[in-house]
Amino acid sequence: MGAAFSMSACSHGNGDPAPREEIAPDITENTDTDKDSTPQDSMKTDTSIFPLSEGVNGQAPTIRLNSGYDMPIVGLGTYSLTGEVCVNSVKAALGIGFRKIDTAHMYGNEVEVGRGVRESGVPREDIFVATKIYPNQYSDPDKAIEECIRKLDIGYVDLMLLHHPGANDVKAYKAMEKYVKEGKIRSLGVSCYYIDEIDNFLDKVDIKPVSVQNEVHPYYQDLDVVPHIQSLGIAVEAWYPLGGRGHQKELLSDPVLVEIARRHGKSVAQVILRWDLQRGVVVIPGSSNPSHMEENISIFDFHLSDEEMARIESLNRNEKHDWY
Ligand SMILES: NC(=O)c1ccc[n+]([C@@H]2O[C@H](COP(=O)([O-])OP(=O)(O)OC[C@H]3O[C@@H](n4cnc5c(N)ncnc54)[C@H](OP(=O)(O)O)[C@@H]3O)[C@@H](O)[C@H]2O)c1
Repeated sequence: MGAAFSMSACSHGNGDPAPREEIAPDITENTDTDKDSTPQDSMKTDTSIFPLSEGVNGQAPTIRLNSGYDMPIVGLGTYSLTGEVCVNSVKAALGIGFRKIDTAHMYGNEVEVGRGVRESGVPREDIFVATKIYPNQYSDPDKAIEECIRKLDIGYVDLMLLHHPGANDVKAYKAMEKYVKEGKIRSLGVSCYYIDEIDNFLDKVDIKPVSVQNEVHPYYQDLDVVPHIQSLGIAVEAWYPLGGRGHQKELLSDPVLVEIARRHGKSVAQVILRWDLQRGVVVIPGSSNPSHMEENISIFDFHLSDEEMARIESLNRNEKHDWY
């Protein structure tokens, strides 16, 4: 596994003033020793690129991105959260232990996410905030970037992504590179880029994206795309990890997942999120419900066996729940 981003045991250590040297992961040291895994299981899961044994419920570990900054591997998604619901969700998540929040210009809630961060009482430097600019903004990227920074009002942005490929995406990314050099954005990423899109894009930009955020859930697993992106030293993040609003009902009652969840005394949502982490995929489940949030970050006290991972892989239907 040629991942060039590495894992870090230091939880929530993304606030360093300067990025650290990129370090390739030493996979041989990454023995997952979760309490209910057998030594044989740990040997089989050595290919995990995340330090899962170092996570505790309520406190997700971080990975070191190729920019040198650390990013928590579990975050809160904020799509469709607006107004006070959004502010309160962000504050609740940060109170529960989340340290990554995902927003976007398109969600219309950067102001509320910023307020939630500022009002949370958690030091700014302990929180990792990602936002995205939208294709209809790519022709005037400086305006779009300034607008994100102004609306969030939290000083710097930890991660800014292009929301989708589109006309002028390279121009927009190059504008974001300028803001990295000025220290206003720390890391850059892209979203909805698959194998051809990312390969073509990398030749045209100077700063390598730290992450690609794509649709990933048990019914759409991106089995070729995920390892390809990881092999480039770029982290993969799952959007719609629970299938997306409107689809999660079917996914959360899938009989195979229900049976695995029952075996571990966990919810189906927890099994899905743990499956992502065990294949090295960062998760950002969306929620405005604090008890769901608590569940979603309490996935460090059980381990899915290789057989269970394979059973979940067999659920893949290549069924996208959104068009991009
Ligand atoms: N880059 C992109 O193009 C893109 C596209 C879509 C989404 N995203 C990002 O990805 C994030 C995740 O996607 P999403 O929020 O749309 O969908 P999702 O995370 O797959 O599902 C969210 C839904 O699941 C429910 N839920 C959350 N935790 C649960 C639990 N433990 N048990 C039962 N239900 C639970 C939520 O309801 P409750 O509120 O009741 O918990 C909500 O209805 C977004 O919020 C956004 O930040 C990015």
